[in-house]
Parts: sequence; structure tokens; C-alpha cells
Amino acid sequence: MNNQSKKVPLLVTAVIISVIVLVLIVSFWVSSMHFPRNQDYFQYKNELKIPPLLLDRNSDPNTADFVLDVQSGETVFFDGRQTMTLGYNGSYLGPVIRFKKGENVNIHVNNQLDVSTTVHWHGLVVDGEQDGGPHQGIQPGDSWSPAFTVDQPAATLWYHPHLKGDTADQVYYGLAGLIYIDDENSEKLNLPKEYGINDIPLIVQDRRFNADGSFDYRTSTMGVVAGDTIIINGTVNPYLNVNKEHVRFRILNASNSQNVDISLSNGVDFQQIASDGGFLEVPLTRRSIFLSPGERAEVVIDFSRSDLDKISLMSGNQPVMDINLTTASAELTEIPDSLTTIAPINSIENLSIRVFELQSMGISGTINGKFFDMNRIDEEVTLNESEIWIIRNTGGMMRSGGHPFHVHGTQFQILSRNGQTPPLHERGFKDTVYVNTGEEVAMLVQFTHPGIFMYHCHILEHEDNGMMGQFRVS
Ligand code: C2O
Ligand code: CU
Ligand code: CU
Repeated sequence: MNNQSKKVPLLVTAVIISVIVLVLIVSFWVSSMHFPRNQDYFQYKNELKIPPLLLDRNSDPNTADFVLDVQSGETVFFDGRQTMTLGYNGSYLGPVIRFKKGENVNIHVNNQLDVSTTVHWHGLVVDGEQDGGPHQGIQPGDSWSPAFTVDQPAATLWYHPHLKGDTADQVYYGLAGLIYIDDENSEKLNLPKEYGINDIPLIVQDRRFNADGSFDYRTSTMGVVAGDTIIINGTVNPYLNVNKEHVRFRILNASNSQNVDISLSNGVDFQQIASDGGFLEVPLTRRSIFLSPGERAEVVIDFSRSDLDKISLMSGNQPVMDINLTTASAELTEIPDSLTTIAPINSIENLSIRVFELQSMGISGTINGKFFDMNRIDEEVTLNESEIWIIRNTGGMMRSGGHPFHVHGTQFQILSRNGQTPPLHERGFKDTVYVNTGEEVAMLVQFTHPGIFMYHCHILEHEDNGMMGQFRVS
């Protein structure tokens, strides 16, 4: 080809790209025009809602039967205003489901919506068929009854829909809930464990509301517009009353796309005791906890010596919950200095390596250059064989940023972040890892259950728009 014929397609491409970029910029600008935030909605404090514990309908201690009804409803976030929402056994979010390690669990999911859904157990290590991914769609009016044995240590996991192309909407409108796994170790450890008293779930989400109380969920091809209101357990402007004692918080970032960075207004340290997959070996002193969408952390805060009667929980520099400190209680004075043992990582030299390259463009993205295709298996993985997965965020176009990379059917261990040993809080088991632009994370993965599973970006709009792949374990 001579020079002349090369230049013409180049020029055409340049023109097309600039037109696309212009259209995207205009559509983003239109979609992000701000509706005035009506102040009096936001000034009232509401007591933090504590999700109910889901009743186990089976009296056999080794078997559990749970029922989840997926429903639509109306939720009052602001006095006198109803918001159309979705929930499990209620109008927004769902109950906490408690499993015991070793238990045989049956869950009966009834889809009472007029659209399809799925229920995925995020972080749970079960066969692909029980995982609740896009292949386990539940039609309107239908039921799905997965059954599995819990064979992983104590942890705080969660559940949410995973319908192909429609996860982000369903989660935004309210479909999410927590799962607690208890085991012998968690039961004997001297940690706060009175649910709702000194063992408090915190489901953190960013939302935006219209003046009539309805959600104002905004996306465009450029990306997602962050919510201007952090709600916790579905509560706007929450307060929580606790005793002056050690209080444990199990924090889930259930936002669709926003990261959170949680700290205390008085700047004091607290102890992180668990990450996604369960306890860390030892409590870690932290001043703030960064969580990308899908990640969890458990922390214990010692309020026993505080002379304040109110501390705010902060997300970044925004107060998001008042913690009112009431009477002193002397029940627990020290938390244990050893929480669990994590077997050291053996030689990794002969393990096979897979590389996953993340790229995003506005609201969509690819993994290894491919958009999700339900009819394509991207990776074949051997059951019970350890592998090294390398996740590389190579950037992209238009507001490309970090991606929380999540893998189903396993809890992995981070080997390195940008070639360095990972920070202490990333040395426990994880199922979701944040990989910022230009970063590279290597992790040790092993799959002990067969089936088809997903890996994807946990920015739900990225997931819905192609940033997902699937692998078969056999
Ligand atoms: Cu929390 Cu594939 O999901
Ligand atoms: Cu998952
Ligand atoms: Cu992403």
C-alpha cells in the first residue's frame, strides 16, 4: 500500500472517533445535570435498620432450609415519601442468612417479580450449578432450589442477582443481602457476637433520590453518576446506639460502582479482623478501610474508653452515620490476638499462569479484549489444581479507572501487587480485588468445585456491559 491510501482510512477513523467522543461527552453532560437536593429531606436522622436474621425452617441441626421471596415493593427512605424498590422477603435488601460450616443447606428462592432474576452467593464455594450466576435464571413466578454443603471457614459473604445484562438495575433497586458463615473457630473466639447489639452489619450503598423520593439512577455511555447520598442498610442519615464496649462491624460495599473509604470522625484506630473470605491471622490496626464494590471487611472498634458520646462513621470526608455511645459495659475488654491460621503459600514455581487484561471505555469494558458471551467458555480450568492468575488493568478510554476483579467459586490469596508483597490486610482470603489503572495483581487460585463460573469486574455496570468472562472447572 502506498502512503496516500493509508492516510484516507486514518482520516476517516479519526473523524468517526471524534464524533463518537463528542456525542458521549454531550450525553454525559445532559445525564449529570444536577437536581437540587432538597435539604429538609436530609436533615432527619433515622435509626439504623438492622436486617432480620432469616429463619431456618429445619429443626435438624445439620440441615437448614431457607426461603427467599424476591419481591417488589415500596420503601420509605424519607418520611411521607414512597420509593419503588426491590427486596428479598421485604421491600428493600434482604435478611441475613446464617450458615454453619458443615451444614447441608437448601434455599428455596421464589421469584415474585415480573422479570427474571438469579440469586448468586458471592464468595460461597459451591458447584457451578448452585452458584446462581447468569446460567441459573429464574423466570417470573418460578422457583429455584439450590442445595449445597458449606465447606469453608467463617466469613461474611453476600447475595445478589446476577442476571445477564440486568444485574446493576436489580441491585440498585434493592436486591442484596448478607450471608454469615459461622464455624467452631468463630464461635469460640472472644469477639463481639450479639447480632444487632455489638455485632452490626453495615451494607453501604451510594444512591441518588428525586424530590418525590424515587431513585435517580443515572448512567450513560460515559459511565455511572455517583450517588450523592450514602445509605446504610437502606437507611438514609442513620444513627446507631451502642454501649461503650467493643463493637464489631461487618462492612459490605454493596454500591454498584463507587468505592468507599470508611473511618471514624475522631480519627482513632480500630482493628480489622476479617477480609472477604474470613478472619485475618491477627487483628490489624487500621485508621481507614478502603472497599471497592463487592468487598467486605470486619472491624472491631473499642468504644469502652471513649469519653465522647457521639462519633461519626465517615466515608471519605463525609459523615455517613452517627454512633451514639450510651452506657458503659465491661463485658469484653480485649479481643484475641490470634484469629486463625492461614497455611503459608508453598512453592508456586511450577504453577500455570493465566493473564487477565482489563480495559474499560465509559460504561463498558473487556477482559482480554473480549466482551462477555454467554455461549463462549473463555477458560478451561482443572479441578483442585492451583494456578496463578495475573490481573492487569491496562486502562482504557473515557473515565477508565480501577476495577474490582471478582472470581466466583473460590477464595483466593494475593501473591503480589505491582510486584510487591501485598499489604497486610490483603493477606487473608479474598474473592474480590481492586486493581487500579496501571496496576497488576497476582493471585493464587484453586477451584475445588466443578461447573461453570464467572470472573468479572464488580462495577455492576461494567459487568452488565461486557466486562465478564466464564470458565469451566472440571
Ligand atoms: Cu458479587 Cu459475580 O458477583
Ligand atoms: Cu460472586
Ligand atoms: Cu470495571
